[in-house]
Amino acid sequence: MNKPESFESERLTARDMDDEVLATYPTEAFLSRDYLEAEKKKLWPKVWQMVERESDLPNPGDWMTYNVADESVIVLRKDDGSLKAFHNVCPHRGRQLVSVPDLLPGKVHDVRGNNRKNFICGFHGWTYDLDGNNTYILDPQDWGGKLTPDMTCLSEVKVDTWGGYIYINMDPDCVPLKEWMGRAGEILDYFELDKMRYKWRQWAIYNCNWKTAIEAFLEPYHVAGTHTQLLAYGDYYALSKQYGLHSVSSYDTRDEKFQMSESSGTTRAGKGDDPRRSTYELIRENYETVNYTASTETLVKAASRLVDELPETATAQECIAHWLKSAKADDAARGVTWPEVPPEIKKESGLAWGLFPNQNILHGETFALCYRVRPYGDDPNKCIFESYALERFPEGEEPETEWVYADPTGDNWGSVLAQDFSNMEFVQKGMKSSGFRGPLPNPHQEQKVINLHRNLADFMEGRGAPRRLDVD
Ligand code: FES
Ligand SMILES: [Fe+2]
Repeated sequence: MNKPESFESERLTARDMDDEVLATYPTEAFLSRDYLEAEKKKLWPKVWQMVERESDLPNPGDWMTYNVADESVIVLRKDDGSLKAFHNVCPHRGRQLVSVPDLLPGKVHDVRGNNRKNFICGFHGWTYDLDGNNTYILDPQDWGGKLTPDMTCLSEVKVDTWGGYIYINMDPDCVPLKEWMGRAGEILDYFELDKMRYKWRQWAIYNCNWKTAIEAFLEPYHVAGTHTQLLAYGDYYALSKQYGLHSVSSYDTRDEKFQMSESSGTTRAGKGDDPRRSTYELIRENYETVNYTASTETLVKAASRLVDELPETATAQECIAHWLKSAKADDAARGVTWPEVPPEIKKESGLAWGLFPNQNILHGETFALCYRVRPYGDDPNKCIFESYALERFPEGEEPETEWVYADPTGDNWGSVLAQDFSNMEFVQKGMKSSGFRGPLPNPHQEQKVINLHRNLADFMEGRGAPRRLDVD
């Protein structure tokens, strides 16, 4: 039996994920230089990738580069308001059309600008309009009239938008973005992410593989071991579920009295005898230690009033219902409208989504805490780590933000993210141990991690594929 066939027969299916089968996967996806090289050919040029928020390119002539592995793409806004994207390479002799230095801490995050009318190559001056057509070649007669527009235009890249994000895909035969997002996109659409704007955005070069980094934010199973201070006010039992390419995690509960549609996400009741106080303490602790995100000031303030506005006998359900109602009214009074999310959608939407391959969104009606991770250079032990907070602001009150390089410390990122950072580098090191028999991910709570490797293997021709541990 040849290799692809044997891979097909052993391949973990979506059904296996739903059945929560025991699975492991090899560590080469994290550690191998050869795997990293293969990602450059088989993964990054084939997947839809988030470039930036649409609000960063609001006007005709606005442009930026998106850089991943060896690829660089120019994304621009045309006069008619539509977006275009091109490979950042001049078809003459291959100079980058826009020079993109290696990403440097504190210096280069991306290259961008405004008011573009054309792109002029710095080497021999060939020039391109915003549709990628060549408009100038020095001494074209030297080619004897044999150069065609197809030979001299820029190579186009697919571009689309979802949730207020710009996405690109370098594969001309890719599925449409809407299909790629699937049910995950439909569910998140209810939260109107497109109406949110940056609150802050930070990045760092971190000493681990990009998958090691994103996996540190894919599951709440680590909360009890890593963020022990958070256990005082809430339980962190989790579940996770595959949605094809993407997956979601939710807070689950062993205690029926906390079971309601809101309890799967960040807006949930605290534990203990007085949910009025613990709900406030839970959300306040989260907000302040996760760099003032994963909630909003409105929600924290409304929670602080629970103890005054509700009797001692209030149940967890009453607390959460009153809290959300009063926060919604407070926001309405300052011009922030909450989207109407039906309870069954709210429950299904859970806590946080892992969007294949490298984007995480922890969402609420008026906020989102998000991550993106990319490889850094040719080193499988390094990555570009980005985290940003979105929030729904009253019109005209959106803060001005830009990408800020921030070393991974508690001062820069808040103590909870610093706790997450404190694991990542040492997972990367630990997986190299000759004594490591391979990951044993929790099939119920860490399914997002298994599903990431399941989908990666599809692009990587079976390399790194998870395999079942409960069958021979
Ligand atoms: S490489 Fe661009 S004009 Fe020569
Ligand atoms: Fe964490």
